[in-house]
Amino acid sequence: MLKILTIVGARPQIIKAAALSRAIRNHYSDQIREIIIHTGQHYDENMSAVFFSELGIPLPDYNLQVGSGSHGKQTAAMIIALEEILLKEAPNALVIYGDTNSTLAGAIAASKLHVPVVHIEAGLRSFNKAMPEEINRIMADHISTLLFSPTSAGYKNLVKEGFKENNPGPYNADNPHIIHCGDVMYDNSLYFSEIADSKTNILKDEKLSKGEFILATIHRNNNTDEPERLSALFSALNRISLKEKIKIILPLHPRTAKLLEKNLPKELLAAVKANTTFRILEPVSFLEMITLEKHARLVMTDSGGVQKEAFYFHKPCIILRPETEWVELVQSGAAIITDADENRILEAYHSFAISKTLKFPPIFGDGHASEYICSELLKTFA
Ligand code: UD1
Ligand code: UDP
Repeated sequence: MLKILTIVGARPQIIKAAALSRAIRNHYSDQIREIIIHTGQHYDENMSAVFFSELGIPLPDYNLQVGSGSHGKQTAAMIIALEEILLKEAPNALVIYGDTNSTLAGAIAASKLHVPVVHIEAGLRSFNKAMPEEINRIMADHISTLLFSPTSAGYKNLVKEGFKENNPGPYNADNPHIIHCGDVMYDNSLYFSEIADSKTNILKDEKLSKGEFILATIHRNNNTDEPERLSALFSALNRISLKEKIKIILPLHPRTAKLLEKNLPKELLAAVKANTTFRILEPVSFLEMITLEKHARLVMTDSGGVQKEAFYFHKPCIILRPETEWVELVQSGAAIITDADENRILEAYHSFAISKTLKFPPIFGDGHASEYICSELLKTFA
């Protein structure tokens, strides 16, 4: 029996881990045993627990409860606790997702103990090291043994950084194996999209008509922490909802919610609060989120996951960042990068309003990336 330790911590990792856990449960339960460690990076009920129950993920075997803190303190607390568990459990491999501080902590703790690291969502690059995520993902990739890239662009980035293609095993941190495998988030969206509508009431509760609202999310640290950028974003959303008479639904990350009073000018905050077509909600559940994505007219976001989900559901997307790791979205014409620039956001909104035929080529695999990953784990480590 192959024993793997999976690290989750932030909201999107819990969602990504659901896909692999489901594949193990349905197809590999006699060959792979998964132990789940939650670092506690996200801890509010609507940022963590809701996803375990809704997506049917086994409850974590361990919760490190590190909570929030500066990058150094948070990552260090995770490494200290993970080291102990790795020594006790002695797994065949450690599985990490994405690019958060939980990802980096897992990669460091395991690689120093010579536990092979498996990085799911490897190779993505923004080429902007001011992003904490860019540092986390580069470091994690370069100490991993198996690197699963969801896109062709991600795979090519790894090759450019010196990873060998088609190299024979045995694989280890000095002879890593890179694989283009499709996206586990796409697996999830396909799997849950059918049941989402019938299991949620969000459209009714928010009085939303299909195709007649914009879904927005904002949480990236440069957007939340820089008052000018946060103001430009809220001003653009407020203007669009008022001028175009379209509802905006913004399920707000707690990071952003906590900074509104401090970083928005008083008049703008008052205008947003007075605007009944601009609805700011608490974070919603995954099934509510994909219901909103499926039925929105357009998505505006600085989230990595939400950009992709907009594409899965064939929705145009305005990317509220200076760049994206998901370059294929922009190349296909279905997404436009506007940064936190009010005029560029308005222009992008109008250009999508007149463009009738967008293309959504199959960039993210066939919806079975998780099963493929399980089979590669067995080939490599069993
Ligand atoms: C983290 C990831 C980011 C990812 C995002 C997903 C890093 C460096 N960043 O950013 O890549 O896109 O998660 O959502 O790992 N907070 C709460 N309750 C919670 C969680 C957070 O109130 O349950 C608040 C706290 O004030 C905290 C702040 O949000 O200080 C930021 O949380 P943190 O986990 O440090 O970073 P995120 O911005 O969530
Ligand atoms: N998400 C959710 N509820 C919300 C906002 C996002 O379930 O209120 C989901 C979303 O559908 C996607 C993931 O969270 O699957 C994206 O996470 P987030 O935007 O926090 O992080 P990122 O992808 O940018 O790292």
